[in-house]
Amino acid sequence: MSKDRDLGGSYWLETAPPGVPAPPPAADVSVDVAVVGGGIAGLSTAWELARRGREVAVLEADRIAAGVTGHTTAKLTAQHTLVYERLRRSRGPEGARLYAESQSAAIRRAAEIVADLGIECEWEEAAAFTYARDPGRTGELRAEADTAREAGLAAEFVTETDLPFPVAGAVRVDGQAQFHPRKYLLALADDLRRHGGTVYEGTRVTGLTESEPCVLSTDTGVSVRAKVVVIATHYPVFDRALLFTRLSPRRELVVAGTIDADRAPRGMYITPEHSTRSVRSAPYGDGKRLLIVTGEHFTPGTADVDKRFDRLAAWADEHFAGLALTHRWATQDNDSTDSVPLVGALHPGSRHTYVATGFGGWGLSGGIMAGRLISDLVEGREVEWAGLYDPRRVGSVLREGTSFLKHQAQVARHFVGDRLPAVTSPAPEDIQPGDGAVIRLGGHRCAVHRDESGQLHAVSAQCTHLGCVVAFNRAEQAWECPCHGSRFAPDGRILQGPAVRPLEKRDIQAP
Ligand SMILES: Cc1cc2nc3c(=O)[nH]c(=O)nc-3n(C[C@H](O)[C@H](O)[C@H](O)COP(=O)(O)OP(=O)(O)OC[C@H]3O[C@@H](n4cnc5c(N)ncnc54)[C@H](O)[C@@H]3O)c2cc1C
Ligand code: FES
Repeated sequence: MSKDRDLGGSYWLETAPPGVPAPPPAADVSVDVAVVGGGIAGLSTAWELARRGREVAVLEADRIAAGVTGHTTAKLTAQHTLVYERLRRSRGPEGARLYAESQSAAIRRAAEIVADLGIECEWEEAAAFTYARDPGRTGELRAEADTAREAGLAAEFVTETDLPFPVAGAVRVDGQAQFHPRKYLLALADDLRRHGGTVYEGTRVTGLTESEPCVLSTDTGVSVRAKVVVIATHYPVFDRALLFTRLSPRRELVVAGTIDADRAPRGMYITPEHSTRSVRSAPYGDGKRLLIVTGEHFTPGTADVDKRFDRLAAWADEHFAGLALTHRWATQDNDSTDSVPLVGALHPGSRHTYVATGFGGWGLSGGIMAGRLISDLVEGREVEWAGLYDPRRVGSVLREGTSFLKHQAQVARHFVGDRLPAVTSPAPEDIQPGDGAVIRLGGHRCAVHRDESGQLHAVSAQCTHLGCVVAFNRAEQAWECPCHGSRFAPDGRILQGPAVRPLEKRDIQAP
């Protein structure tokens, strides 16, 4: 796929209405509940609580439903690739059952909301499939089908799909759904307002004091007081419990294009093969459907992203004849070390603060589940699956051993290794237009970018979260931190947390 081709960005952002203007608060605010982050987890939580009579404010750094949720594939399924066999081994059959039940309840909840509020969000019921082409993997798929069925899903092992190529086998789960996530969430936000809630966009939360009430500070200068605070910022921006040691960011690419409707698969597919490939189609009109293909995962700041986009586009082209690419975008999610999201109390001493994170690529059902779970916890209700998702879960470090150590080793490499003198460091004149590099200027590591007009821009290369060194993603024109996934624009502005401060400007002429 040529870099110069004029492809659109996220299809979901391009095809949803702009949404109701939601300026930052003009003065200090006092509410029952402040939800930080307006993605699917934050908006679902805010909506549930507003419906239960709480006065709720959503504080969103950018625009609601435009973060990871605005760049997803938008399958709503309790089939999460091959999670059930992993859960059976780590949390026992009961853990697998609770996971299936909680995720299925979230899908039913979304279906109810869509019907009750009459939301037009291209809702379609569909079967979900995890497939493999390698006959050597059929044993794994059969075991997954058995465990998912025992956990309560309508799962079966099949060899027939509506993909245009043969598969060795697949786990099929009926009764799942797909939708347009931004249309769904804008309607949810409208209903939240009708129930007394307020949404503030362009309001980045920068500080939290846990007290009664809790106090949030923001980059607009106003403070927000709230009896209860929910951190739904994707990667948690406040983290006394050191959740960052149990979360690793994984960036993934998406390409989409039109295809004749009669050639488009109606099922939702994923395979762990080829660095993951996920496929679904969406309504498009004119006898066409939009085919959406996701894959090529990597740690932010560590890949040649253009090459990976090309590989994904070539795979889509090879497997779906007649595909005309129209869009490409990318986003990232956080994997928890035990494959289960972290939803519940923010830390062991928390009394009024909650968190929802670590969705591992499945945060649409996960975010809706989190909304219900946190609302029930706020109200002091018993929830059967609270223990499964509790971020304080006991013994998790033992269960998480290998992946915990792997992630820590990777972070240490970026933290320490990036500080060692580079064998060769490019000079500013070596940086091509549209590219960037970390170079030493006046004893400081600087992230230097040359824009298309040839102008150089320099910012500190040290991530403002915990100090790892950023790397340039040329395809997306962003500085990315490999440790916990913060992303910054070439001028240092935050594109994605957990960082809450921009990269400091450096003077390239006089460092
Ligand atoms: C390529 C890809 C495809 C995926 N496809 C699927 C799928 O098909 N099905 C599925 O279930 N899941 C899928 N996922 C996962 C899913 O999209 C995510 O888990 C989910 O969208 C996360 O929602 P969220 O609300 O936690 O985060 P977000 O949607 O990112 O929301 C967090 C919000 O917090 C805001 N924020 C951050 N910091 C601050 C701050 N300091 N102050 C105020 N606001 C702040 C951000 O601006 C953002 O709007 C996919 C993930 C990827 C990477
Ligand atoms: S995101 Fe944590 S150090 Fe950069």
